[in-house]
Amino acid sequence: MKLKDSYEREIRDLRISLTDRCNFRCFYCLPSSKPTLNQKANILTFEEIADLSSIFVELGIDKIRLTGGEPLLRKNITTLIAMLAKLRTSTNRLDIALTTNGYLFPETAFELRAAGLDRVTLSLDSLRRERFTEITGVDGLDKVYESIEAAKRVGLDPVKINAVVVRGRNEDELADFAGFARDYNVKMRLIEFMPLDSDDNWRRDLVVTGREMFNSINVQFPLELIGTTRGSGTSWRYRFRDGAPGEIGIIAPVSEMFCGQCSRIRLTADGQIRTCLFSRVEHDLREAKREGATRAELIGLIRAAVEKKEPRHYINDPDFEPASRSMSFIGG
Ligand code: GTP
Ligand code: 5AD
Ligand code: SF4
Repeated sequence: MKLKDSYEREIRDLRISLTDRCNFRCFYCLPSSKPTLNQKANILTFEEIADLSSIFVELGIDKIRLTGGEPLLRKNITTLIAMLAKLRTSTNRLDIALTTNGYLFPETAFELRAAGLDRVTLSLDSLRRERFTEITGVDGLDKVYESIEAAKRVGLDPVKINAVVVRGRNEDELADFAGFARDYNVKMRLIEFMPLDSDDNWRRDLVVTGREMFNSINVQFPLELIGTTRGSGTSWRYRFRDGAPGEIGIIAPVSEMFCGQCSRIRLTADGQIRTCLFSRVEHDLREAKREGATRAELIGLIRAAVEKKEPRHYINDPDFEPASRSMSFIGG
């Protein structure tokens, strides 16, 4: 029996954060130098992740995305990918994807692919070296370029690139991002800034809306919508009218909520189910598992959590209260 929430949304997409640590300090996520991190003992082991994932797969999850923090800070993540790849069956191909800042990716790309990774999404918030360093705290632009090449070389193609667009920081690069998508033949995804940063610096006037992003690009590189719905995905997708390679995806959760079609559920590095990025309650799967809950009991716990999935986010409501944890703890 598939996983369905109380609003009839089918849950098929599991995002697992492997660690809350990160080697970057992106201002829209983790600007402070010292967040309170989990003790190692609280972090799920690969065996626990694989066991729990097998239950999720049995319940109809057909897409697993590994995130962080920075997932590649976990040692031997290739082993985990291989364990997850074993969960594939003839009726469930299980798509395995990774979201990374790319700093440690080039040297592991080949083995990740060989272990069964299908896709990678890299973060890239500026094409200007100094600005990239200001935004992330690390001089890592060249590593992202290397990562794109490595991903293509090992067959992780198409490559998706995430840029969080923030007023006064990088919205002057929108047309450049589009040029980059064309030149490098990548899927460039432009994301509205959400109130998920650890320092609570989000303000509404910093949000560059999806509409504004579209207009800035469309005047220079006319765009054409691909498909008429987002399905359960997050982005409106566009191709270039002149037939150039590459794609633009616009992700506008603030100005144009897409919660009604959400198919996502999240597992934090410390084993808590989060039914929404903006959840204020979590469901403790780790302790249940460590206390010896049976598979049937864990299934019951997962179903009960999914049942409580929030109908939507409340970012635009006057009494909006931020999520209980920031993005670096939840994963993107
Ligand atoms: P797939 O290729 O479909 O697996 O997409 P993806 O996982 O690469 O990217 P996705 O579109 O799911 O996520 C890209 C960004 O969109 C994330 O980094 C978040 O910023 C945002 N995002 C993802 N899921 C959600 C969600 O459930 N709610 C909101 N508000 N934003 C989301
Ligand atoms: N708003 C929107 N997207 C964010 N991400 C991180 N923090 C935020 C935020 N405050 C996304 C970035 C990054 C991914 C891991 O999460 O796209 O690439
Ligand atoms: Fe690290 Fe990713 Fe957060 Fe940037 S967005 S600080 S790379 S977890």
